[in-house]
Amino acid sequence: MVRLVQYNMRITIIGCGSIGSKLAKAADEMVEVKRIYLMDVDKGLAEKVAATLNKAIVIDSVEEELYHCDLVVESASQAAAKEILPKVVARGVDIMIMSVGSLVDDDFRKAIFEKAKISESRVYIPTGALCGTDGLRAASNDELDEVELTTIKGPKSLEGIPYLLEKGITVDDVKEKTVIYSGPAREAVKIFPKNVNVAATVSLLGIGFDMTKVTVVLDPDTKSNSHELRVKGKFGEMVCHTYNVPEADNPKTSHLASLSAISALKRIVRGEWFGI
Ligand SMILES: NC(=O)c1ccc[n+]([C@@H]2O[C@H](COP(=O)([O-])OP(=O)(O)OC[C@H]3O[C@@H](n4cnc5c(N)ncnc54)[C@H](O)[C@@H]3O)[C@@H](O)[C@H]2O)c1
Repeated sequence: MVRLVQYNMRITIIGCGSIGSKLAKAADEMVEVKRIYLMDVDKGLAEKVAATLNKAIVIDSVEEELYHCDLVVESASQAAAKEILPKVVARGVDIMIMSVGSLVDDDFRKAIFEKAKISESRVYIPTGALCGTDGLRAASNDELDEVELTTIKGPKSLEGIPYLLEKGITVDDVKEKTVIYSGPAREAVKIFPKNVNVAATVSLLGIGFDMTKVTVVLDPDTKSNSHELRVKGKFGEMVCHTYNVPEADNPKTSHLASLSAISALKRIVRGEWFGI
């Protein structure tokens, strides 16, 4: 299949919250995008977002316009991603995934990528709220010894997580910097499904979910969602810090994540691949 710069593109956005609504607005302003289909379990929210745009209509399910759609963007949840990925890929439609933790299950992921190959569907994973994925991607073409991600978040970003409640940790009662998780990325993305999607992205790019070490720190004084990515390998050593501003409408999500989705969409529709 020949893919050049795409015009008259139709995209479906599943999940119209913090990321989806900003991506929809950006897509509305792209000349290459002709139609935006919006879907959210909260239909009222999808309608509210659509009302602010020129090219958007609301649909009830991802299947509704799949035959007319060039790209589906999942910006909803891990559960939503797991549900829609097989449907979209089976139809040979491209898909961009924000809830990257949905790919933690090895059998599920292999089946998706196998199906995507057969049906000529592409699975896009934006860099998300993390810098340094470019270096990791290049470095992974030779031996990697260590990949470690340390994430520091404030109480607002970490509230309502069952794992913390089970451990008797009330985020607002923590008065000093505290390590609340340290272990493999595989567990981290399950325990923090809305907080450490970047750990899944790093695992997929580097040494996998079991070898990638993740540390999550609760800092009562921080206003940022920060990530430190450390990589050691044959290429040398890399340390990359990202001090993210959380989104006002969802403090679990960093503004850079929305920007990375917008940037990925521009690359896809315009065929621009600088710094790949
Ligand atoms: N890759 C990254 O670096 C990164 C960074 C931040 C967030 N994320 C992930 O991206 C996803 C979206 O983030 P957000 O900040 O926009 O979240 P959000 O909570 O602001 O918005 C999610 C929206 O999806 C809707 N939704 C939930 N389940 C749905 C389903 N099954 N079908 C349709 N709609 C559904 C919700 O009603 C909500 O409006 C989350 O899973 C989040 O963890 C990824």
